[in-house]
Amino acid sequence: MSLWFGGDYNPEQWDEPVWAEDDALMRAAGVNTATVGVFSWARLEPAEGEYDFGWLDGTLDRLAANQVRVILATPTASPPPWFTLAYPDAMPVTRDGVRLTHGSRDTYCAAAPSYRVAARRMAAALAARYGQHPAVALWHVHNEYGTVCWCEHAALAFRSWLQKRYGADADGLAQLNETWGTACWGQCYSAWPQVQPPRATQWRGNPGQLLDFRRFWSDELLAAFCEQRDEIRAAAPRVPVTTNLMLPDYQVIDPWAWRREMDVVAVDHYLSGTGAEGHADIAFAADRARSWAGGRPWLLMEQATRLVYPPGGRVLSRPPGRMLRDSLGYLARGSDSVLFFQWRASRAGAEMWHSAMLPHAGPDTAAFREVAALGAAMARLGEVAGSTVTARAAVLLDADSWWALDSQGLRGADLRYLDAVRRDHAALRRSGVVCDLAHPSGDLSGYRLLLAPALYLLTGAGAQSLRRFAADGGVLVVSFGSGLVDAAGQVQLGGYPGALRDLLGIRVEEFFPLPDGEVVPLSPGAGPGSPPGPLPAGARGATWTELMTVTGAEVLASYAAGPLAGYPAVTRHGVGLGSAWYLSTELDEAAHGQLIAAALAAAGLTPEVPGLPPGVEAVRRRAAGGRSWLFLLNHASEPATVPADGTELLSGAQVAGSLELPPGGVAVVREQSRSS
Ligand code: GAL
Repeated sequence: MSLWFGGDYNPEQWDEPVWAEDDALMRAAGVNTATVGVFSWARLEPAEGEYDFGWLDGTLDRLAANQVRVILATPTASPPPWFTLAYPDAMPVTRDGVRLTHGSRDTYCAAAPSYRVAARRMAAALAARYGQHPAVALWHVHNEYGTVCWCEHAALAFRSWLQKRYGADADGLAQLNETWGTACWGQCYSAWPQVQPPRATQWRGNPGQLLDFRRFWSDELLAAFCEQRDEIRAAAPRVPVTTNLMLPDYQVIDPWAWRREMDVVAVDHYLSGTGAEGHADIAFAADRARSWAGGRPWLLMEQATRLVYPPGGRVLSRPPGRMLRDSLGYLARGSDSVLFFQWRASRAGAEMWHSAMLPHAGPDTAAFREVAALGAAMARLGEVAGSTVTARAAVLLDADSWWALDSQGLRGADLRYLDAVRRDHAALRRSGVVCDLAHPSGDLSGYRLLLAPALYLLTGAGAQSLRRFAADGGVLVVSFGSGLVDAAGQVQLGGYPGALRDLLGIRVEEFFPLPDGEVVPLSPGAGPGSPPGPLPAGARGATWTELMTVTGAEVLASYAAGPLAGYPAVTRHGVGLGSAWYLSTELDEAAHGQLIAAALAAAGLTPEVPGLPPGVEAVRRRAAGGRSWLFLLNHASEPATVPADGTELLSGAQVAGSLELPPGGVAVVREQSRSS
């Protein structure tokens, strides 16, 4: 087994003499994987139904001869210009009603029948030609599914999705009216054709409609993926099929549903910051990918070597010297690959200023030397391929909650779903405990601690599974904004959080969001004179507060000032063999960390390597036979001494008792077998 190392390879952007140089430099850099064809539709099908595979035949044979495995993409994320002219109705329409046209990529409506037919035909043609090609190790359908559209095709498909969900007859329509609460503002529908996608409208839209539109698009895009996958499976039954999931700060698809249809989970990840937030970012991305993969190894399909252009953001560049450490961040958390966008930097076109493994300045560069050093490290780490990471703690992550909360839920408050999830994930990371992301109604039996941040929408099944988790001995920590609406997106009445009130032993009557920058002091226990609880003196809440009373829970901290002075702020409720904790406010970082430490202690969880200095990350991968590898990354600016025993794979050095990590240093220690 080996780890996959390489990136997107676009030889069609270059003349033939460059290809020989590519071959030689790929060998020099230890590249063993190339993703080919991602945007090559116009090249492969220059006119409708006319194929030209000569260039791709040659590329695959050349890569195979160079010992480079191929991830073969279907090019359907970028339809050719002829398609635009032939099928103008398949061009996407924005929420505001503007029809887009050719000029970029991802310019299509995936609900347009003409697009679906053309995309499927392209996938079938590729599968027929390369289904048995020995170089093809993995099929990569499309690229980063995520384009949504508000056109008439989308409207038709949305309506038929709704009819399947609610029933196509008058009763179904009545059900839709009821679920969406259309009695508010007289939005009631009296016939199906009146139901539209949530296009630009005068003011606030309908939350039920917005939520269902999100759900619809995730399913529609998934159907488009499955159509192509099935064409490939029919021609190449033994080769796995994937698509590269995007990890942006918004969510278009529901990865929990998608992962069931993918043979292997692959993600693209671009840093949103280059300082400490970059490491937190990598850990969060990698933990999500591993969790979607059900704990199995997954693939990092794309990252950038240096310059990256985040959507809408300022251009960022990964500092020199960070490529190995950052890449090990993904490997530590279960990736079996380090792949980049892209191999050779383009000299023209929309991405000509994006960084690459081989920069414009050529191989005599710091960046290429860093790439080659990374390639050499990957070869030394080959034995970790196939090993896995086991987490006993998890943060709950749910697309419905994300969609519902961020589109219309609790408007005006500074309460954003992803921020809440990231905050909990970061607190566990800082505590040295590796965690998964988990779905509320998934299998939670392997966890001892669950954090539920802003889990706004909770289904009956989800609530029941959380109840079972705590009753069976788990520690559940729920934060404000959770359990407020049901699967239909409707408020659960009788006091918040309707779905979790009994489990938490509390009843929230009202919300009091805090203005930007305002904080409220907390005091231990039920107020002055109470014994100290798990929160430090001086703990503060921000963003959100709630008027709540307890109906069985113990009060760990109360509001010490302001309109809610004396009311409980943080509680804990014994449930069966476990407990359910509630945070009605956003704790400051120190208090949050201390509360999580108390919850970890209650769950009997300890860090992967206890006692590490701040900024040192330790994650273990394990394999059958008691084999394990300890990944150590020092993100701090101080050297660190870390307990370890075994063989350090990057240097080959023996490690007995402890290991010195310089600032920014890394190590991967093959540990002594636990059974030996
Ligand atoms: C990804 C995309 C790649 C490339 C990259 C640049 O989202 O899949 O094709 O455009 O961004 O950062």
